[in-house]
This record gives sequence, C-alpha cells and structure tokens, in this order.
Amino acid sequence: MKALELTAPSLTAFRATELPDPQAGRGEVLVRLRAAALNFVDVAIATGHFPGVAFPMIPVTDGAGEVAALGEGVSGLAVGDRVIPHFMPNWQGGVITPSNVAAMRGITLPGSLCEYVVVPAASLVPLPAHLDFAQGAALPIAATTAWNAVRSASLRPGSVVVLLGTGGVSLFALQFAKACGAEVIVASSSDEKLERARQLGADHLINYRATPAWDTHVLALTEGRGADLVVETVGAETIVRSLNAAAVGGTVFTVGFITGTAASIDLLPIIVKALRVVGNNTGSVSDLAEAARAIAAHRIVPVIDRVFGIEDTSAAYAELSGGGRHLGKLVIAH
Ligand SMILES: NC(=O)c1ccc[n+]([C@@H]2O[C@H](COP(=O)([O-])OP(=O)(O)OC[C@H]3O[C@@H](n4cnc5c(N)ncnc54)[C@H](OP(=O)(O)O)[C@@H]3O)[C@@H](O)[C@H]2O)c1
Repeated sequence: MKALELTAPSLTAFRATELPDPQAGRGEVLVRLRAAALNFVDVAIATGHFPGVAFPMIPVTDGAGEVAALGEGVSGLAVGDRVIPHFMPNWQGGVITPSNVAAMRGITLPGSLCEYVVVPAASLVPLPAHLDFAQGAALPIAATTAWNAVRSASLRPGSVVVLLGTGGVSLFALQFAKACGAEVIVASSSDEKLERARQLGADHLINYRATPAWDTHVLALTEGRGADLVVETVGAETIVRSLNAAAVGGTVFTVGFITGTAASIDLLPIIVKALRVVGNNTGSVSDLAEAARAIAAHRIVPVIDRVFGIEDTSAAYAELSGGGRHLGKLVIAH
C-alpha cells in the first residue's frame, strides 16, 4: 500500500513509501482510509514535543474510510461500510486507564496517512450518513472532546457556555451547545472568525485582542452570573480568566495547552464558587459513538477550513502550527 511516513520529528520530514498491505486478524477489520484530520497533537509529534514516538512512523491520529475486509469472527459490519476508526482503539468505554490509552493511532500505532489500516472491529464508529469522509475524519479527537465537555456540565436550555477561539474543539462545542439550547459566548482573535461563529449560532462575540479582559465582559453579558461551562482550550494564558468567567457551581473543562501548561492561579474562585475544574483526555470509542449519534440526530456539519491533498501534507502541518489562521478543522484527503 501507499503510505506517507514522518521520518523524524520535523514539520517537513515526510516520505512517500510503499509498505506491505496489512491483513485483518481475528476480531479485526481492514479499513481503506480516505481522509485524515489534523489535531494539535499531530503537530506536537512532528515537533518532537510528544513522548514515546518512534520514527519513521505513519502520522495523523484521526481518519475515516470504508471497510475493505473483515477478519474472522467479526459481525455487524460489511465491506463498504463507511466508518471512523477511533484513535485510541483499546479504550472502548468507561474510565481512562494507563493501558487503554497506551495504544494510539498516529502515535504508537500506524496513523491515517496510508491507504489501509487494521483496527479492532470494536474501535469503529459508523460515519453519520450526511457526512463525507473529510467531515467524518474531523470527529475522533475534536468532536469527542467537545461532546465530553458539553456532557460534563449537563447543559440545558438557557445554560451559558464560553468558548475560547474558533479551533476544532471550540466549534464542535459550539454546535453541541446550541443543540442543547445553551447560550454561547465565543472569544476569538478575529472579527471575521467571530462572524462565522455567529453564523454557526454563537449568541455573543468577544474579540479577545480588542477586549483582553474577556472574563469581565462575560460577567457583564450574564448580569454578573458567569458561565455554567467554560471550555478551556488555550491553557496557561487563559485559565485565570476562565475561572473568573465561571458561574457559581460552574464547570471549567480543562483540555488545552496551546499557551503552555504552567500557570499560577488563585484558588479562591474555585473554593468560593465551588467550581468543578474537570480535566479530560479526549474520550473513549463509546464517547465518540455518542458524539457521532448526536451529530447525526442534529445533522451537524463539521466545520472544515480546508482539505489538502496528501502531496501537500507539509503545507497542512504548517497551516496548523502557523498561528491560528484556520477556523475549524484541517483535513488531508487521499
Ligand atoms: N485534552 C483533551 O482531551 C484535548 C482534546 C482535543 C484538543 N486538546 C487541546 O485543546 C487545544 C485546542 O485544540 P483544537 O484542536 O481546537 O486547536 P486548534 O484547532 O488549533 O484551535 C486553537 C484556537 O485557539 C484559539 N486561541 C489561541 N490562543 C488563544 C487565546 N490566547 N485566547 C483565546 N483563544 C486562543 C485560536 O482561535 P482564534 O484564531 O479564533 O483566536 C486558535 O484557532 C489544543 O491545545 C489541543 O491539544 C485537548
């Protein structure tokens, strides 16, 4: 099969190669991959900031494709079914454990920049019928994380949600939060991106460059109450404001580290407002399946900024690592 390997921790060290076709064993499925979607973790791997990666490797955690062959003992799937393989194939449900997150496609296992991959049948989720492969590839990390964020705060009509930026996680969280009837406040560096967020249903828009004290603005917009959920996708630079923007009993769902992980915080808002600061490491196959069902039920269309050809993989990585020009997801189709 054709594959694109990353030969070293570098944003440009890609090499087209031919590898033997993998064979599905018992309980496994051979998937013909059609698209791969980038996440921040792919850039972390390609810049040497992710431990435990052996080069050369087939990169990109997230992908989508169709069933090409079934291994012995696999039922409930047929050749040609459109599927999304979860990137942590052994974490099928329940709580995270060290062993169920040790195997990760695009990190410790072959990723999505190849024609074929063999995965456990139990790690496959049906691709929602209204989505194409590029849109389906966008789901595993970003939609699962956003889904878990929305569920962690038990959103209901009238809940207030704050989202930071217009990246993959934030835009899925926007779409899920609106499906729950929540009121959504989006902070972005760009008025153009804020306009896109408004078109996707955002109720209030804050340009965090023009209004650096966006947390105070959130309190003003909510008559001092604050947000029931802040999805903290940015990290060290924003965590203090996120805690300040949260309502009494609110949830600060902490996933991002774009601006680093070391922050000095005042514990008082957490104590006084009885905040729930919830950490999250993406989610299980079962979480992805729930997110995909919600996407199907509400006919949510993932926001794809751009689809690159596989020959332009370096350009796709450069775009993701290049300072936030994109909105939503970057996809590589093949
Ligand atoms: N732990 C988990 O479960 C988990 C899962 C998925 C992702 N993550 C992490 O979550 C983060 C976001 O992931 P992603 O895929 O959504 O990334 P992304 O698509 O690259 O989006 C990042 C966005 O963050 C915004 N941003 C940057 N600096 C900001 C600031 N100072 N204030 C507010 N917004 C800012 C930018 O939006 P604008 O251009 O609109 O300003 C940027 O587009 C990454 O660190 C990723 O590794 C964690």
